[in-house]
Amino acid sequence: MAAFGTVFMPEMAITEFNGEQWSAPRKAAVEHIQLHPAAHVLHYSSTCFEGLKAFLHADGSVNIFRMEANIARLIQSSRLLSLPEVDAEMLREMITSIVATYADKTPTPPGSMYIRPTHIGTEPSIGKAAGASASSMLYVLLSPVGDYFSGGVRPLRLLIEEQGARCAAHMGMVKSGGNYASALQPIMQARAAVNADQVLFCPGGDVQETGAANFMLIDGDEIITKALDSSFLHGITRDSILTIARDMGLKVSERELSVDELLERAGKPHCEAALSGTAAVLTPVGTLIRNGTEHVVGTGTEGATTTKLRTALNEIQWGQRSDDYGWLT
Ligand code: COI
Repeated sequence: MAAFGTVFMPEMAITEFNGEQWSAPRKAAVEHIQLHPAAHVLHYSSTCFEGLKAFLHADGSVNIFRMEANIARLIQSSRLLSLPEVDAEMLREMITSIVATYADKTPTPPGSMYIRPTHIGTEPSIGKAAGASASSMLYVLLSPVGDYFSGGVRPLRLLIEEQGARCAAHMGMVKSGGNYASALQPIMQARAAVNADQVLFCPGGDVQETGAANFMLIDGDEIITKALDSSFLHGITRDSILTIARDMGLKVSERELSVDELLERAGKPHCEAALSGTAAVLTPVGTLIRNGTEHVVGTGTEGATTTKLRTALNEIQWGQRSDDYGWLT
């Protein structure tokens, strides 16, 4: 299968805000969009996006996972970036209509149709470094996908980064392109230096998240993960996994976790760690690398609790377990 996120359906849903109102959403060819070279997004990074998935069920229906939560997060990101207000009903209609149009192209599980709503500031004004873009464009791309990490679900290697942060502390909860761009250098360097799959950002020794997914430590029947604050992304998959975990009787501790405590716990043979995200789903972490020393997490392989949680999530997404939480549209 092609690399994650490199193949697109030929059409997207699109609308523009002209400073006063949104145009009627329409379908347009996924080719090029026209932007003025001074467009706000190209200079001041006024952009946010979402990542959610639609799944094909055995009865032929196509089901979008946690669409309402993703719409709410895009609205919140847009507000925090001073982009024009997005109407939830309009975006809901755009997502469902484009997914329905390409329903027959939805891959069978474990594949899915990745949905990428994107909101960008389009006002041609390089003078607006300290002003909001009055106009914007909102579009929804579709990309049939398989596994996010090359080599499929396998224990990942994470480099612990205690100096640099993924992004500015008050912007972590915004799903904005700039946050991903600012994490790129450390990730590329970690890849080249120690063959790491990702960087676990732990500014000042506080375990936060990786460049593209949330982090959780699973120590026996307890899951430890950072409590929500503005410094990191409020993952919807994180929320789904924690909800399922609580209902399975696991203890969920949302609290500060230091790198020292993480490494001390991770060394125990029963310990597990995992990354959660729409793209990452729930991927095990096998090795943590700190200052050149490799620390194996548990046995270094995927643990039973990680498998159990991912299976439960997948079964809901794939229509093989009842959707008791009402997460499917
Ligand atoms: C997602 O998990 O949907 C994301 O947006 C992460 C991205 C790096 C693929």
